[in-house]
Amino acid sequence: MEADSQQDCGEKRSHWVSGVCKPCDEFDRALGERSPQLTEPRMITNSAAWRRLMTKLSLRHTDDEMTKLIDDRLAKQFPDMLSRNFWPDTLYFDNIHNAWGLLKSTKGYSSEFKLQSYLYWQYREKSAIALAAASSWYGGDYVEFGSHDLYTLRNFLSAYDLSGLDKAWPDTRFYGFDIFGKIASDNPMTLRSIEHLRRYFDHFTERGDLYAEHVRKLQEHDLYLDRYSLIQGFFQDTVPPFKENYKKDGRKIGFALLDVNTTESYELTFGYIFDLMAERSYIYMDEYFQNYAVITLFEDFRKRLLQERNMDCTYVRSCAALGALFLLHPVWDRSRPGLASG
Ligand SMILES: C[S@@+](CC[C@H](N)C(=O)[O-])C[C@H]1O[C@@H](n2cnc3c(N)ncnc32)[C@H](O)[C@@H]1O
Repeated sequence: MEADSQQDCGEKRSHWVSGVCKPCDEFDRALGERSPQLTEPRMITNSAAWRRLMTKLSLRHTDDEMTKLIDDRLAKQFPDMLSRNFWPDTLYFDNIHNAWGLLKSTKGYSSEFKLQSYLYWQYREKSAIALAAASSWYGGDYVEFGSHDLYTLRNFLSAYDLSGLDKAWPDTRFYGFDIFGKIASDNPMTLRSIEHLRRYFDHFTERGDLYAEHVRKLQEHDLYLDRYSLIQGFFQDTVPPFKENYKKDGRKIGFALLDVNTTESYELTFGYIFDLMAERSYIYMDEYFQNYAVITLFEDFRKRLLQERNMDCTYVRSCAALGALFLLHPVWDRSRPGLASG
């Protein structure tokens, strides 16, 4: 049978064998083999079979044709993807990309879809920070300042689990510091220091004490339940006693995640973690690019690290041009043999 003699497959450069367009048929079967359940559609696009098929198809179709082909087939297979009620999902939001990952024209998308896609991308960037640190891990604990809502903490628990780090570092602990919705302190100095930030904290206290809700969220996440601690209160009150015991136990921080919004809290937390950071460890600042005071404070932290601990910080990656991940490491002594990676 001659190519292009059949019209129903809709492809310009189809190639027919016994009345069937081979790649389109394979395409249908690759989709069909996977259940049309929407709970795990990402399985389709991640499978080796899918990637092999895409490579094969790509040799025969232009970029635009490929995009249309995929859109049409996925829309047929997963009609729910087009419904407004379909909640964020990898495949759904990856629909903003064409087959090669370039962004499609957004003309015609609803404002709701645009917003959700955009937020989806931002959250994905944040999860990439956790995955990046976990993919080259040097041990130590995960210590987070500003944990309200637990997006970043849950990201890291999953990244830790996904990367199989537990086998080599079964002792890693996960700490989250925050007021968790409750303003309370017995210390007049603490209360004075946050007085001018009342409006900021009000935003996080509108729903009252959320400690139990946060514990429930972690229980639902169901990873390393015996190794996390959520520590409620102002850092000014909770961190100094924690730090004393932490040092006594000889523990070190492998990843300090700072998501504390205000310059004052950044300054405080840089001071707390300075001597606790492991020699090879990570630090992430969620407002690094947004608040240039954080850049300045971090530069001070970095200079002090160099002077007092002979350690430096190297930039790893950004999170949506808002936050930045850095690696801390000893300064290499040139007179000594080279280091092996890994
Ligand atoms: C942006 S939220 C954290 C979001 C969280 N990392 C997530 O991804 O879900 C910032 C948090 O920092 C907390 N925070 C800022 N300064 C603080 C301080 N001095 N003591 C305790 N909590 C503080 C706030 O209460 C707020 O809950």
